[in-house]
This record gives sequence, C-alpha cells and structure tokens, in this order.
Amino acid sequence: MSTPVVDLRSDTVTRPTPAMRAAIAAAPVGDDVFGDDPTVLELERRCAALAGKAAALYVPSGTMGNQIAVRVLTSPGDEVLLEEQSHIFLYEQGGIASTSGCLAHIVRGERGALTVEGFEAALRPADDHAARLSLVCMENTHNRAGGAIVPLARMQALAAAARARGVGLHLDGARLWNASVASGASIAQFAACADTTMMCFSKGLGAPVGSILVGDEPVIREARRVRKRLGGGMRQAGILAAACLHALDHHVERLAEDHARARRLAAGMRADGVAVEEPDTNIVIATLAEPLDPARVLAELEAQGVRMVAFGAGRIRAICHLDVDDAGVERAAAVFAAAVAAARS
Ligand SMILES: Cc1ncc(COP(=O)(O)O)c(C=O)c1O
Repeated sequence: MSTPVVDLRSDTVTRPTPAMRAAIAAAPVGDDVFGDDPTVLELERRCAALAGKAAALYVPSGTMGNQIAVRVLTSPGDEVLLEEQSHIFLYEQGGIASTSGCLAHIVRGERGALTVEGFEAALRPADDHAARLSLVCMENTHNRAGGAIVPLARMQALAAAARARGVGLHLDGARLWNASVASGASIAQFAACADTTMMCFSKGLGAPVGSILVGDEPVIREARRVRKRLGGGMRQAGILAAACLHALDHHVERLAEDHARARRLAAGMRADGVAVEEPDTNIVIATLAEPLDPARVLAELEAQGVRMVAFGAGRIRAICHLDVDDAGVERAAAVFAAAVAAARS
C-alpha cells in the first residue's frame, strides 16, 4: 500500500467527513432565492446569534463575502484602508476597484494588525480634492502574517478610533474561528469591532463550500441584493449549509488540535538556515536562508508525498487541518528535514 500524501498546502483541501456527508444527505431544502431553504435559514440564524448581530447571509465564498461587504459599506470613489499583505488587497483581483469603484489605501501592519496610528495617518482633510476614507478592513487571523491572531484589544482600539471618525469597519474573518479558539475571545467579541464580519466554513472547519457575512439588518438586506447581482444567489443551498451546520457543531473546538500540530510541525521544521516563527494558530511559515532554494525543497517534498506551497521570497507555508493527523505531521517534519538536507547538497 502506498503512503498517503500529507497535503499541507491549505486548510481548504479538506474533504467532507462521512458524518458531514450524512448531514448533507439528510438536509431539508427549499429555494433560498425565494428565502425558503430551512437549512440555510437555520445556518444564518445561528451565525448571527453567535456573532451577536441581527442578521447573516450565506455566500458561496470568502471572496464574495468580502466584496459584498465593501460594496455595501462604501460609495464609488471612496478609499478603503487595508493592511498591505491582506487577502482583500493581494488576492481578490482588485475587486474593490472593479465591483465597488474604490481606491485601496494600504498600510503596513504589525503581524497583520492595523494600528490606530496607521489609521490616523491615513485620514485626509475633509476637502473636496480628497477621496473619503469610508472603510477599514481588518483580517483575523492574518494569513500572510502566518495565521497571526490580531489581539482583541487592538481591534477594539482601532474600532473606537474609526467609529469616532464615522468610518466603517469590515472584518475578513476567514479564520476567525481559529483566532477565537486559540485566544479565548468569542466570535461575538471580535465581530463587535466591525459593522460586517465574514467567516469561512471551507477552511479549518472542513465544509466543502461557503462563508457567512454577518451584520445589522439593513446592511445584510442590501448585501442580499448585491449577492444576487454578483450571481451568488443559490437555490437548494441547504445541501451546502447542512455541511456548515455540521462543522459548527463538530469542528470548531477541535481547531485546537490543528494549532498544537502546527506548533509541533514548526518545531520539527526548524533547522540551520530555516527560521520558523512560533505559530499562533494553524499556519506554519518557514523562511529559508540563502543558498537554500524553496523551489528545490518543495520539489523534494512533493517527490516524497508531502505538499506545502511557496509563500513569497524564501518562504514556504504549511497549514494543519482536519485531514492531517499526528502521524502526518511527524512524517511531514521528517520529510522536510530530509528535503532541506538534499537541497543543501
Ligand atoms: C484571509 C482570507 N480571506 C479570504 C479568503 C477567501 O476565501 P475563498 O477562497 O472562499 O474565496 C481567504 C482564502 O484563502 C483567506 O485566506
């Protein structure tokens, strides 16, 4: 029997468990565009309650959730403040410009966290020449910062500063579940720092499709319209929402296991010429010193059935998730050490 591949490229590669597939098969469904899919309605109700918000909207992807939020919270010509390594800025194809007509104002954060000082410096005088800064987008956990948790206190301080200036806030919480489990702060506490929060089910929670956008009633009503415009209105979507409900019941607390495995993997990957920051959550980033070539290391890994990805100059990323167990992590660490040794030769 061949050794199974250990796929650490992303936490999006998980496949539905048998129990999740059973929940999908049993889901009552209706036409969600007419607003009568009971499983989608249940998912939206539960997520709104969990986040301490009045309403929620199930959307096909995290990208769509983020883009809908920006569209609803801005007007064309507005500026949006983004951390320079954020997903919305780097990986959503300039969507805030094409979908919302907005300018991206990027600033460097601290381990992914936007600072109050960075926000204050981004403000411009209320002058007819200047674009209005109308929205701040936060990301927690921060992917490019290696799954770093943006501490609740930092988000609260930023939210207070933005609100004092009448500036809206959106939280890209694709992995907010991880931040909550690892820090002990609740989803509602984080979500209270923003007008809208997007959270993904298709990452650490292991569902096949979908994200949720939570916020106040009028904002989510408008978001529903924008979702339809973008082609994101789905019909018997309860099939998908059932997997998300199952994930909420069974896959949130267990994220702590992924975090513990990520710490073990990080320890196993550290070596001469390989720096690995202690992970806050499930993402491990290795930074290779010259002359180690990440492409060579990745090729050696792939040849031995361990998958990771290139993540910027000299960097390799590995993410622990539902489909990687202790044995997988041990094998990945051993194969990584061998790949680094081979890349030195
Ligand atoms: C921080 C963050 N936000 C948003 C997204 C987008 O999610 P999706 O792939 O569902 O569009 C991702 C995906 O990796 C992400 O890491």
